[in-house]
Amino acid sequence: MKQGSVIVRGVGSYLPRKILTNHELALMVDTSDEWIRTRTGISQRHIADTHEACSDLAYMAAKNALADAHLQTEDVDLLIVSTITPDMIFPSSAALLQAKLGLRNVMSFDINATCSGFLYALEVATHLLQNGKSYKCALVVGSEKLSSIVDWKDRSTCILFGDAAGAFILEYTPAEHVGILDSVLGADGSSPEKLYCGSLQPTTTITKHFMKMSGQEVFKNSIYWMRKAVEELLERNHLTKTDIACLIPHQANLRIIQSLAQSIGLPMDRVFCNLEVTGNTSSASIPIAFAQAKNSHYFHSGDNIILVAFGGGFTWGATLIKWP
Ligand code: COA
Repeated sequence: MKQGSVIVRGVGSYLPRKILTNHELALMVDTSDEWIRTRTGISQRHIADTHEACSDLAYMAAKNALADAHLQTEDVDLLIVSTITPDMIFPSSAALLQAKLGLRNVMSFDINATCSGFLYALEVATHLLQNGKSYKCALVVGSEKLSSIVDWKDRSTCILFGDAAGAFILEYTPAEHVGILDSVLGADGSSPEKLYCGSLQPTTTITKHFMKMSGQEVFKNSIYWMRKAVEELLERNHLTKTDIACLIPHQANLRIIQSLAQSIGLPMDRVFCNLEVTGNTSSASIPIAFAQAKNSHYFHSGDNIILVAFGGGFTWGATLIKWP
């Protein structure tokens, strides 16, 4: 294994232009702005155009991340896209993005780990950069067009989700103990019926599927697994909650985030939230929140930042970053 670290060299995000407010949703299903804001903390979400696919959203976020990193496409030698809403079953959205960006013919593949997917992708990219002889710079994107799998007649789910993409440029550096330091990741696939998109029965044809969710089960499990992941991450890195300068959680529901912060014992002024304007964008949510936190100087050099996510599967993860 090489010495050195993997740092976040650049960040980028993209939110489609069209905004769907709670008030507009209340004209589509039996709900209200007040109910949605009180139960979720969400006021609006962005919705992609019909002609925009996952790889198009990813393209915009990737371009922004490359610009932020002051790098060119030829500098990238690994591409991973995390998504549950790929343009098509195959080719992967990463392969499509490779062509759209005009990258060299670098290894490009998708990861599907739902809302934890971006943290899974970071873990894979970090190990390849740290251990692989030929990788120096990775583009990791979380990109979702959730509006394509939302049932717009189901008020218990359609209020939650939005479309967006976020991207990191990761780079190997010989410096020690900075950047992405450690991750705790897990999965429990024993209850797929609690949050899924597809058929739970074997089928012979591919039909249009919408996501289905048992809201309260997901709510409880998300707090439980995210708290466990954060605590394990802190323990094995000999840190305590007072060492966390900034927690950037998956932006699913403000009540989930508040309960998580309370269970860890972290004040909300150390927890970054932007879900009010984005809704839940699945694997795009953490890189978008991170980009916004970075650009608003929410964290500083030497800070310990923890990213934490939970999603269908169930899957979960927590990642520790020391900001250089
Ligand atoms: N507007 C108005 N009423 C609604 C509604 C809506 N959009 N959606 C559900 N309701 C109703 C229900 O029908 C129910 O009515 P009833 O009491 O007459 O049966 C009532 O509100 C309470 O429903 P419940 O499901 O218990 O609400 P809740 O407080 O659990 O909130 C969620 C629902 C979905 C907001 C919440 O469970 C949640 O956020 N879960 C986690 C979802 C999530 O984050 N998923 C992604 C994970 S990555």
